[in-house]
Amino acid sequence: MLIKIIENKFSQAFQQAFPDLDKTTKIEVTRSTHARFGHYQCNSAMKLTKLLKMPPRDISLKVLETLGEQSEIIEKCEIAGPGFINISLTSKYITQSCQEMTKDIRGEAKADKPIKIAIDFSSPNTAKEMHVGHLRSTIIGDSLARLLEFQGHDVLRLNHIGDWGTAFGMLIAKLQDPKVKFDEKTADLSFLVTLYKEAKKQFDEDENFKKQSQLEVVKLQSGDAQTLQYWHTICQISRKAYQEIYDLLDINITERGESFYNPLLADTIKDLENKKLIEVSDGAKCMFLEGYVNREGEPLPFMLQKSDGGYNYATTDMASIRHRIEDEKCNRLIYVTDAGQATHFAMLFKAAEIAGYLDPQKVRADHVPFGLVLGPDGKKFKTRSGETEKLIDLLTTAIDKAYNILQERAKEKEAGFDPQEMKDIATVLGINAVKYSDLSCNRTHDYAFSYDKMLRFEGNTAAFLMYSYVRIHGIKRKIPNAQVSKIDLQHESEIALGLHICQFAEILDSISDDLMPNRLCEYLFELAEKFNGFFRDCRVEGVSEQNQRLALCELTADVLQQGLSILGLKTVTRM
Ligand code: ARG
Repeated sequence: MLIKIIENKFSQAFQQAFPDLDKTTKIEVTRSTHARFGHYQCNSAMKLTKLLKMPPRDISLKVLETLGEQSEIIEKCEIAGPGFINISLTSKYITQSCQEMTKDIRGEAKADKPIKIAIDFSSPNTAKEMHVGHLRSTIIGDSLARLLEFQGHDVLRLNHIGDWGTAFGMLIAKLQDPKVKFDEKTADLSFLVTLYKEAKKQFDEDENFKKQSQLEVVKLQSGDAQTLQYWHTICQISRKAYQEIYDLLDINITERGESFYNPLLADTIKDLENKKLIEVSDGAKCMFLEGYVNREGEPLPFMLQKSDGGYNYATTDMASIRHRIEDEKCNRLIYVTDAGQATHFAMLFKAAEIAGYLDPQKVRADHVPFGLVLGPDGKKFKTRSGETEKLIDLLTTAIDKAYNILQERAKEKEAGFDPQEMKDIATVLGINAVKYSDLSCNRTHDYAFSYDKMLRFEGNTAAFLMYSYVRIHGIKRKIPNAQVSKIDLQHESEIALGLHICQFAEILDSISDDLMPNRLCEYLFELAEKFNGFFRDCRVEGVSEQNQRLALCELTADVLQQGLSILGLKTVTRM
């Protein structure tokens, strides 16, 4: 990675210039925000001025003296402002790095030490429709999984489905009601959702039904065969509905719902009790963690067993964190949910640390929070008919709208597409648009869902990037017999594009740390723009540089395709 190489060079230069400097002092190099600041920047002199008792400019001067004027890698360094160092690389080195990438685009991106990583994402709740929050979790989680897989890590994609709990008692009681027409073969998730609404109402009004429901919960927990059979059926119906969405989104995920951890719950509580970490509060077993208080300033309990003996969300998460570390031997845990669960996960990680399940020195745990999905009106997203419209309809609407837009464009351009080809492209575009519009905004912010915006062909959108890819392909198609030769960057716009291409691995590396897919979107958008700059300034077809420029085109297309695929987006060669 370029940035690492330069960072090392500068670390050495700092050490040499200031031998007393602690070996662990981090010398930081960043990508320049603008071409006039060179390619990279080192601003460490500013931070070290107190320590070294020297003005930053003098520090930088001394470092540059040690570094020497020029090298194979560094073309020139300039001190700017109070002491920033602007670093420009030689075009020869950038060319070389690009050429390396044509051989193996993944090479540099590979992690030095691949580890095992569990990503908990999507995770809808059985007998309920997946909502847009789950859609966000699915899209973000999948892209993070793809990124870490690309880097060569062993990624466990876990669907922590809410498939256990007292709600099932009501549903199972209701399914046994002779008045309810239940046909296992035809019943779908909508049927369950409606049935649950009725059951809930009856539960609140009808004492007998309430008792029966509670009895079913007890039977379910004790493993009664018939009750379990009903539960299985409910899970199966839900699973089918979720799978339809995963298929459309091309999501690969392993179901490991809350029920999986049932056999581990009692032991986890016992273990915590043995370690004297449990306090009983109003009959409930809780952990009280330093620094967590409610709005009134009272200690906030991390409740692990309710006063009636029942287990809850936190119990399962405690058991599962333990399982993922002790049994699955994961070195990193990632949980993708709405920001509303931030406190839960902060407490979970703290509690697991205190209990000795999670050693932060060995295992990194991240909650990856995201904001709400808003409608175009800026209010919380509701599908047209309110709560019950299905997520799948939202996706098919995006595909239909994509189809209409493509058809309009084809008419304008008088391009001939056969209907099936058009349908296939529309499916890719519609799904890509939904994914990209979500991923391209900073996930911690709320995000406005708008079909019109996400399907635009201009700006930082899926269509723009897909179209850029198509265009690059088109160039090659126009010169079918050309021999692609080695890359040779000469023109300023070629170098700018080449440098950006070389930064692919370091962008991925930084995202594996901050888990912000929008940075990859920005990178790809900039890649497309830099490509446009190159294509505007440098003729490809029929010039003496044709074959080396074709190589640059090819590499750009590969990086674009690979980057989009990490985001979970597909590319097409015609559009
Ligand atoms: N089922 C939960 C929900 O719908 C998300 C589960 C997230 N994962 C976890 N291990 N708690 O909000």
